Amino acid sequence: MTTWQKTDWRNKPRVQMPEYTDADALARTEARLSKYPPLVFAGETRTLKAELGACSRGEAFLLQGGDCAESFAEFSGDNIRDTFKVMLQMAMVLTFGAKVPTVKVGRMAGQFAKPRSAPTETANGQELPSYRGDIINGFDFTPEARIPDPARMLEAYSQAAATLNLLRAFSKGGFADVHRVHAWTLGFTDTEEAEKYRDMANRIQDALDFMTAAGLTSENNSELATVDFYTSHEALLLEYEEALTRVDSLTGTMVDTSGHLIWIGDRTRQPDGAHVEFCKGVTNPIGLKCGPSITTDDLKRLMETLNPKNEAGRLTLIARFGAGAVGDNLPKLIRAVEEEGAKVVWSCDPMHGNTIKAASGYKTRPFDSVLREVQEFFAVHNAEGTVPGGVHFEMTGKDVTECTGGVRAVTDEDLSSRYHTACDPRLNASQSLELAFLVAEELSGRQRTLQAAAAV
Ligand code: PEP
Ligand code: CO
Repeated sequence: MTTWQKTDWRNKPRVQMPEYTDADALARTEARLSKYPPLVFAGETRTLKAELGACSRGEAFLLQGGDCAESFAEFSGDNIRDTFKVMLQMAMVLTFGAKVPTVKVGRMAGQFAKPRSAPTETANGQELPSYRGDIINGFDFTPEARIPDPARMLEAYSQAAATLNLLRAFSKGGFADVHRVHAWTLGFTDTEEAEKYRDMANRIQDALDFMTAAGLTSENNSELATVDFYTSHEALLLEYEEALTRVDSLTGTMVDTSGHLIWIGDRTRQPDGAHVEFCKGVTNPIGLKCGPSITTDDLKRLMETLNPKNEAGRLTLIARFGAGAVGDNLPKLIRAVEEEGAKVVWSCDPMHGNTIKAASGYKTRPFDSVLREVQEFFAVHNAEGTVPGGVHFEMTGKDVTECTGGVRAVTDEDLSSRYHTACDPRLNASQSLELAFLVAEELSGRQRTLQAAAAV
């Protein structure tokens, strides 16, 4: 039997990766990056895997969210804090509604490389290579900016390290203490969502006051004072992933220390391709995006390759079909999973199947379509008797205008006012919260159905 090497992907067909022109510069960067400290630790990835195992059984629920693409320009402590805050709020809403723990995973601290639908872009009569994310090339529409530069990997690593440092401080340093449930609200206090959140926070506060009186405080209970917050990104730029892959000294296995969970995109999941080859050998939890083109045969092969031991929590299938298309696609995949007896987390990404071009030319996502896809996802799982284990959103804590609709309706005309994403349109804070309430309702309805069924 041959053993897997972290370089094996180099012998496989690759798509969506840059052709670096300066091989020496690339080799120098890879050599440096290979010596840099790990960003995450093997033990943390194992804990996350166990928690995802709970999600696969319906004993916990996965909330994965963050930027479509992190960028060097938008990097700031405030942005990290606001996304973290809104995720804490959403997690509270989900835990309160569904009465199960929420597993929190940011699309953060490494989400830099982007697959693109076309290799080039044309503007003002000029055709240039597509922007592929700040870890690869520059956003500016100039020939120089679009040349892939390996040194960008080092800047991305530094940004990821600083982001993780802040996330770890927020998670463990008192900011995320549940007694601060009121303090996480962002500036938008006039929306229906904010009001609903305040009501819920009041009820949580009551419960906490009771617990304090009974002797259970943050001082004597770290579960109340801290949270676990994990990081994730698409494992697209394999030179970067390989350089950060290390042997776990405790188990002797290989771990990609660039993030806790890494996922394979919908465009790079070829069963014989480089990305699957890389991901199969590292022990991290792996996500797999499943869009309309995936066949049941592909899925079965991918499950066998990526999770041969059928470990719960190893594989999260992230369904992203688009509103109106879930019913045609998801049931057959669920049945394939059930036929194999495969243990997976089913997560719903209601973003990537719902991208449209607004009349104004901006790429957007109608909030109604996002909501509808989530509802369809739950309805299919309820009909199949399987477990909806999580959600995957592109979102930010900022008050951006990138997706249309929502309670504080963003219109087509509004899009230009605060459109800051480096790639796909994100939900803003109030849309994110609205969605969390919807998911909580779906989950609590499901709990009631399960309880009723158990009682019969
Ligand atoms: C993404 O998650 O940003 C992405 C590109 O998704 P997908 O691979 O599902 O299109
Ligand atoms: Co995206």
